[in-house]
Amino acid sequence: MAIADEKRSALSVPYAMEPELPDRVPKERYFDAGFYQLEVERLWPRVWQMACRLEEIPQPYDFVEYEFLDQSVIVLRTDDMGVRAFQNTCRHRGVTLVQGRGTCPDGFTCPFHGWCYGTDGANRGIPRRKSFAPHNVEPGDVDLVPVRCEAWAGCAWINYDDDVPPVRECMEPAATILDAWKVEAMRTEQWFAARLPVNWKLAIEAFVEMYHVVVTHPQLDIPGMRYSLRRGAPFDPRGFIDAEIEYLRVMSDGMDGMVHRNDVQVAEGLRGMELPADPTLAISTWNRSLNDAVVQWNRQRRVVMPDLNGLDELGFNDTFYQCFPHYFVLPMYSGASSYRFRPLGPEETLMEIWSMARFPEGDEPGVPTRPEIWEPNDERWPPIPAQDFSNLPRQQKGLHAKGFKYMRLNEHLEGQISNLQRTIDGFLAGLPYERLLPALRKVNVAPFDKPVLDLGF
Ligand code: FES
Ligand SMILES: [Fe+2]
Repeated sequence: MAIADEKRSALSVPYAMEPELPDRVPKERYFDAGFYQLEVERLWPRVWQMACRLEEIPQPYDFVEYEFLDQSVIVLRTDDMGVRAFQNTCRHRGVTLVQGRGTCPDGFTCPFHGWCYGTDGANRGIPRRKSFAPHNVEPGDVDLVPVRCEAWAGCAWINYDDDVPPVRECMEPAATILDAWKVEAMRTEQWFAARLPVNWKLAIEAFVEMYHVVVTHPQLDIPGMRYSLRRGAPFDPRGFIDAEIEYLRVMSDGMDGMVHRNDVQVAEGLRGMELPADPTLAISTWNRSLNDAVVQWNRQRRVVMPDLNGLDELGFNDTFYQCFPHYFVLPMYSGASSYRFRPLGPEETLMEIWSMARFPEGDEPGVPTRPEIWEPNDERWPPIPAQDFSNLPRQQKGLHAKGFKYMRLNEHLEGQISNLQRTIDGFLAGLPYERLLPALRKVNVAPFDKPVLDLGF
């Protein structure tokens, strides 16, 4: 179909982003029930969803239940250490077969009347089978319903659409960079969960721009650091190193995810180093030295650690990669934070944060404990998420004001929000994947200080 024809046949999208004004987001996109329902019907069934971390299912026949909206899926580790998934529903009268997490070497037995299924999903037994009419127990028609499932980046991913390209292809260019960074070698060290009284897109958008950092996270605006230098402050190499180390320490505070405490310690070891007087040269010398020191320290303890400086040409200067739409990886030196967002309703979101680290082989932590879900104002939150969460409920409330019609985005600093919203419109309009993939290539990388981009639709 020619692109012009396709444009004409695209489904209409209410409260769509206006092509002429891509720096404005209609507020209804964040609470309108009809808009939310369109996402349920046209976005979520066609995107790769991060269903679980693989360390939750380390052994063959380990499984987790992945819940999303009103759907529940069994994600299973196979005996060849692959992954597969089934809809979590008994073919008799619909009882969910599993809850939470467990292991199922003998397959699944329904707790209601005892229908049995193998780990391949095949029906293995129906008590009093002969008393059913044959058309209700036809072989092949009473197996578990499979769901597409692939492993990548240390996670199992599911997709309800058989025609969508493989997960890795949908996550480029982040996929190439994260693979080179050996993201699959990361293991969960801490896992947090927040129930946020906001739309899922509002929650995501709080993390894809740096514009908020100076005001929301004042402790990160450290005099002498590279961000303050951008504003034209005079350069002092020693003060710069102290500020950088302080920044790493504050980022590490309470979560070890944004920056791992090991990397802060490695940076401490470089505190006395000499830097050139020229700021540009000094910053690149510091970056390269710290990268090398982190790599060396980690390789000495026999962990899988990529050469951070060798990744430069891949563009590995960014600390943030989106796996559209709902999963993020934020690599910093040897560690990473990662986020997942699941809508619970038009104005409610479950956000999870994993702090991930590298461990020597044989020293990896066991299956991570599932987190208790905290409210956004829970005092156990580390400082940085606590600050982000303090704004979000107020923002969701403020959007409803009669006088507030649309968000006005800074087209240079907050362009990623527009890029994300317009990619969502591409899904809601029912565009084919060959037209969506170029947009995914643009949103899956480096959201900070990113302009509004032409997505091709
Ligand atoms: S509902 Fe599962 S055996 Fe009846
Ligand atoms: Fe923030």
